[in-house]
Amino acid sequence: MLQDNTAPARISPHPFATQMAERRAAEDRLRPPRGETLLYLNGVSKTFDGFKAINDLSLVVARGEMRAIIGPNGAGKTTMMDIITGKTRPDTGDVYFAGSTDLTRHDEAEIASMGIGRKFQKPTVFEGHTVEDNLRLALSGSRSIFAALLHKRTETENTRIDEILATVRLTDKRGASAADLSHGQKQWLEIGMLLAQDPELLLVDEPVAGMTDAETEETARLLREIAQTRSVVVVEHDMHFVRMLGVKVTCLHEGHVLAEGPLDAVSADPRVIEVYLGR
Ligand SMILES: Nc1ncnc2c1ncn2[C@@H]1O[C@H](COP(=O)(O)OP(=O)(O)OP(=O)(O)O)[C@@H](O)[C@H]1O
Ligand SMILES: [Mg+2]
Repeated sequence: MLQDNTAPARISPHPFATQMAERRAAEDRLRPPRGETLLYLNGVSKTFDGFKAINDLSLVVARGEMRAIIGPNGAGKTTMMDIITGKTRPDTGDVYFAGSTDLTRHDEAEIASMGIGRKFQKPTVFEGHTVEDNLRLALSGSRSIFAALLHKRTETENTRIDEILATVRLTDKRGASAADLSHGQKQWLEIGMLLAQDPELLLVDEPVAGMTDAETEETARLLREIAQTRSVVVVEHDMHFVRMLGVKVTCLHEGHVLAEGPLDAVSADPRVIEVYLGR
């Protein structure tokens, strides 16, 4: 009988190979995922009175990543932060945090308590209190101002305050009134107050606006230190500052990602030059 040589040979894998593949798959499942996603936005849109402020926006930030967001005025950078933090609800799209948490189903307070801290553009510190007391208030979370300032100071709390003061370059200003800080120092104090909540993701909107050059450079170093232990998304127009951060950049335009990648590549992109850098 003639054998049909045109039919493809069916080779069943050797049992040993199957065993190896199964073992490798099992090992992979145990390994923590590389570049695990912490924040995931996909197809997000938001219209205000017929104007598409956010238009099919997608953004993925890994755990432990710092990302810089640039783009012209009105590009939707702040609105994107409003959506992540639950201040604004998107019309459509997915917004997920730490895997399966659907942020569109939670309000601002819940999202903050999940570990997403947000710094608005203007510093909002308690001017009538010292730097240290501002941090105590932030550490105490839900306790009332009086209870927070009167309650017994624990060793853990003191250590944490020392750490935060050092991180935000305010150790020497511990006893100073927050009202007497420079604009830049107030911004740092507010970052310190957010750190007191130990967020996994920190959103920072235009932190260096109004800062001196020295403060701006110190802020870049400070954020890089902070980003060693958590994810940070920072919106900024100051390109010198963004360059100092040395991280992946996303350029938004008309509520959509126009370009993404290393700063050199993004800033050489003709579309980015046209709508933003070449202004
Ligand atoms: N609550 C709102 N109601 C109506 N329009 C809004 C609202 N929030 C934002 N917008 C509009 O959405 C657009 C995007 O604004 P957004 O503040 O997000 O821009 P941005 O990229 O942060 O700009 P900038 O660099 O100037 O801070 C703007 O045209 C703004 O007027
Ligand atoms: Mg803005």
